[in-house]
This record gives sequence, structure tokens and C-alpha cells, in this order.
Amino acid sequence: MKYDFDEIINRRGTGSIKWDFGDDLIKMGYAEYFDEKTLPLFTADMDIAVPPPIVDAMHRTADQRIYGYTMLPPEYYEAVTGWFKRRHDWDIAPEEILFCPGTVKAVDVAINAFTEPGDGVIIQRPVYYPFTSHIEKHGRNVVNNQMLVDDDGYYKPNLEEFEDLAKIPENKLFILCNPHNPSGRIFDNDDLRELARICKENDVILIADEIHGDLIRQDQVFTPIVKTTDDVSQIVTCTAINKTFNTAGLHATNVIISNPELRKSYRKALGSAMPSPFTYNAVIAAYNECEDWVEELKTYFDGTIEWVMTFLRENMPKVKFVRPEGSYIFWMDFRGYELSAEEIRKKIYIDANVILESGTLFDPDNGEGFERICLSSPRPIIKEAFLRIAAEFKGC
Ligand SMILES: Cc1ncc(COP(=O)(O)O)c(C=O)c1O
Repeated sequence: MKYDFDEIINRRGTGSIKWDFGDDLIKMGYAEYFDEKTLPLFTADMDIAVPPPIVDAMHRTADQRIYGYTMLPPEYYEAVTGWFKRRHDWDIAPEEILFCPGTVKAVDVAINAFTEPGDGVIIQRPVYYPFTSHIEKHGRNVVNNQMLVDDDGYYKPNLEEFEDLAKIPENKLFILCNPHNPSGRIFDNDDLRELARICKENDVILIADEIHGDLIRQDQVFTPIVKTTDDVSQIVTCTAINKTFNTAGLHATNVIISNPELRKSYRKALGSAMPSPFTYNAVIAAYNECEDWVEELKTYFDGTIEWVMTFLRENMPKVKFVRPEGSYIFWMDFRGYELSAEEIRKKIYIDANVILESGTLFDPDNGEGFERICLSSPRPIIKEAFLRIAAEFKGC
């Protein structure tokens, strides 16, 4: 391997949410305990160095010595369109790209742009929980289209129920999360096509959060929803370098909207969104120069996930899971232990001293007994976390 993903970089003292703010995490209910031995494996950023071309771009930008107001140069658009053409065979026109400082922000803007207070926004739980908080923050209603579980244990959308919900006139927006967080599931193309059709026929705008779409298993294929249907006039897609290249702190999201009317409404709700010179140069470097790094990283995560699955089968056979098809997130079902949520939490968060994310965050009604871990740290850290957790469940 050209890159050393096993390298352990000390992030303490760098302002990292997960490594530096234990007291705040406890206050906010994310953690039960925090000390210098805590392994915080909850928030979805990586403890892995970004690709060298991005570091070089940051140095070059710093050397400019002036960080004034900036706009996106043509090279930015070329880098974005080039990446999606090469990687996903997706032709994007530069004018379809709107820069937004972050993907959560991009979803938030869509809620404001396309719905009114009192309208319903459809989500599919279990799902990335900031969707819920942002829908509620704006006085819109959360409308849950609960995911089903197929024979292999993978989540899939309940299309019948989705169609019923889409027919309700108050339900104006659907937030798709594909690859799916927290399970890593990549939706079937047929299901995506159906979701798009139902939205189109019922005048529901579909915002696709595809932030995890570039970091998938080597044996998997990710298809952006716009590539599954001919009519994309109802679709808004969020893409970002934030997860793929570990640059979440740079807040670089691109929202792709081909329908000019939707784009106009979205732009109005977005307002001024200026990228910092560091951010746009990172995007250019990431999309132009880092393909080999992404491929190696995917192979590395394949290996980590393989290790975790083998470890769980051998040491914690009561934990149920499926192999995530995308991302480094891993969703575990601890219900086989028949312990209360508090007992599970105590064992993991306090006794093993590992911070995860509890299932009820992603699904208040059905998430109890589930935990999500981010396998985005160097493998020695992941191994240590699982050894600690397994020791606490021994004999249970
Ligand atoms: C599905 C999904 N969307 C958005 C985000 C956050 O993206 P950003 O940092 O670009 O706001 C995450 C982070 O975990 C995520 O998993």
C-alpha cells in the first residue's frame, strides 16, 4: 500500500469534537464518561490523514497570505463535473452546481426552500437523526416511512407505504439517505427508480443525501438516484468531499439541481454561501488528484470491516449485523443479549470506555438495543475497541 492508514495521529488538542470535548459530550447525553483512555467512535469523521494533495493545497493556500472574499473559479466546476463523470458516469452542467457550506446545511436549506410550516417531510427511519431535528426546528412535521428488513437482514424501503404518504398533499419533501446511514445499505436501483417515480407523480420534491456514495465496498456499485430515472426534474442531490476525503471541517458540499425553477427557489433560500479559499482548493485537489487514495482507503475499510465481522462472529455471536455496502459506519443489534438499554450502554460507554451512538437516536421507536460504530479510525484503534467491548459482554 502506498498510504499508511494504520498511522495513529493524536487528535487531542486539535479542537476535535470527539477527542477534545468529553465534558460537553456528557452534558449533551452522547457520552456517559470521558477520560484519556476513552475511544470515541461515534461521530462520522476519520482519524486518518487526508490525502497528501489536499495537504499540499492547504499549504499553497496558506502561502498566499491573504484570505479575502472568494468565488468559485472555473477549475472548481471542472473538478466537480470531472469527478462525477469519471466515477459515476453522471453528466453535470456547471450551472447545476450550487456550493453549500455542509450537507446538513444543504438539507436544512431544502426544508426552507420547498416546504411551509406545518407541511410534512418524509424520512425513512432508522436514519441520520439531524434530519429529524432540522425538520422540527422549522416547524415542519416528521413523517416516517419505516424501513423494512429483507430476508438477508438488509434494510429496504417500504414502497407501498411510501406511495400512500406521498399522496397526502401536505407531504411536500422526501429526504433520501443513500448509502443509508446508519446501516451502510446501498439502495437497489429499482427501489430508487420507484421512489423517484412516486415523488414525481405526487409533486413531492426528493432531496438525495448521497454524501457516503464515494466510499463504498470494492465489490459494490453506487448509483446516484438521478442515474436511475429519466425525469430528474424533482430531484435535488447533495454530494460532498466531507466524508470521502475526511475534510468535514472544511464544509464543502455541492448541491446538484438540474431543474432551473427548483434551483432558483433553492438559491433564494440558500442566500450567500461563500467558500473559504481553503475549502475550494481542497475540493479541486480532492476531485482532481486523489482517486488512487480513495481506492486504497476503500480496500483498507474492506479489511477493517472483514476483521470486525470475523471478530464478532467468533467472540460476540449474539450481536447481529450485516456487512455495510457503503461507508465506514457499522450498525449492530445487541438485542440478542436480552439486556436493558441502560445495561448495554453501561457496558459499552462506561466499562469498555468506548463511545458509540445509540440506536434510539436514529429511530426513537425501534432503535433500542442497536448501536452504531464508525470504523473510520486506524485498525489498531478499532481492534482495541472491540476487544474492550467483548470483554464486558463475556459470559452474558
Ligand atoms: C447522511 C449524512 N448526511 C450528512 C452528514 C453531515 O454532513 P456535513 O458534515 O457535510 O454537514 C453526515 C455525517 O455523518 C451523514 O452521515
